Amino acid sequence: MTTASKIDCDVKDLGLADTGKLRIEWADQFMPTLGIIRKRFSKERPLAGVRISACLHVTTETANLAITLQQGGAQVALCASNPLSTQNDAAASLVQDFGIPVFAIKGENHDTYYSHLEAALQHRPQFTMDDGADLVTLAHTQQKELAKGIIGGTEETTTGVIRLRSMADQGVLQYPIIAVNDANTKHLFDNRYGTGQSTMDGILRATNILVAGSTLVVAGYGWCGRGIAMRAHGLGAHVIVTEINPTRALEAVMDGYRVMSLEDAAPLGDVFITATGNKNVIRREHFEKMKDGALVANSGHFNVEIEIPALEHIASNRRKIREFVEEFRLPDGRRIYLLAEGRLVNLSSAEGHPAVVMDMSFANQALCIEHLTKNAARLEKKVYSVPEEIDQTVAQIKLGAMGIRIDHLTPEQEKYLASWSEGT
Ligand code: ADE
Repeated sequence: MTTASKIDCDVKDLGLADTGKLRIEWADQFMPTLGIIRKRFSKERPLAGVRISACLHVTTETANLAITLQQGGAQVALCASNPLSTQNDAAASLVQDFGIPVFAIKGENHDTYYSHLEAALQHRPQFTMDDGADLVTLAHTQQKELAKGIIGGTEETTTGVIRLRSMADQGVLQYPIIAVNDANTKHLFDNRYGTGQSTMDGILRATNILVAGSTLVVAGYGWCGRGIAMRAHGLGAHVIVTEINPTRALEAVMDGYRVMSLEDAAPLGDVFITATGNKNVIRREHFEKMKDGALVANSGHFNVEIEIPALEHIASNRRKIREFVEEFRLPDGRRIYLLAEGRLVNLSSAEGHPAVVMDMSFANQALCIEHLTKNAARLEKKVYSVPEEIDQTVAQIKLGAMGIRIDHLTPEQEKYLASWSEGT
């Protein structure tokens, strides 16, 4: 369809495009909500001429989002939001088959990662679409010149929203951003069921361990932690939850998990998974108490949750023992296994969340960009919630695509809910 040679890009191998195209098609069949939006977009062209730079995990699901935006008339450039999450075949197909400039190679180093973000900004976007706020941060720091024309953006994930709120609070945010993560149709499904399943998938693909009967420690009981705990329990693990928030800790207790400090959990766990959004959650004092053979993995956005420098410091030896598994041997002979360099295990050693949930996340993304094209000029330099109407629309389309009918209020019920006079 396009001549890839004319497209500015940096991908691993355009020869992977055929495989990528088939896998993008496979994902698409599980993304009916986005498909319906894509059909409307291709008729109405609400994004005609709009330039979007997207910094997302470059997967088959993201490919379907990029194609949807393109069908809506947008010119999209895409870079990776994590050095290890790129699916090289999907990246190749986007360039080769859809003419979308992609800058992303699985395993890219820090400098290449940032040069790819810069390449996406060279596209001179009016809108940014970010996952973790690295692109927005770059546009607000080293690349202010390239960022001058940006009038709005969206953010996909909890960590990114936290960073953006901090920018807004400090008065440095230069344009309005919609926190897609905070839509109910995003975090209740993507963060919970998506992260729950894909994290276990990543750990299993990397290690092939038996979960049943093992003790699995989940650090953090936000929506992601809840999902991981639920799925680990379903696979037969004895789940321990650690938290810093007393309400969430109580919730975990009443959901049936053991709750304790990480210090107490350290000698008990066979597998440790961080999903907190914070740094240095598993530290030297925890590694020092772990059993021989303990596995340590992260499912939070950045690779800072496990204090890897401390592990490196106390280890007398390290070696790669399997793809995505590194063994650290301590002087007393104990071995600790770090998965996927402490990066998002679900996207590094597996394929990220299944398309069924990304369907809703990315439907929100597409509709929020459409909303911004109409309204960005009126918005302040703040972090906004997804408009309720968009959240509800996504839920309705998804239910419709699943063939599920739900009830509606009768006029009598509507009146009852709006009144206060009827009582005991
Ligand atoms: N985040 C988590 N899973 C993902 C996926 N499959 N595609 C894009 N972003 C993701």
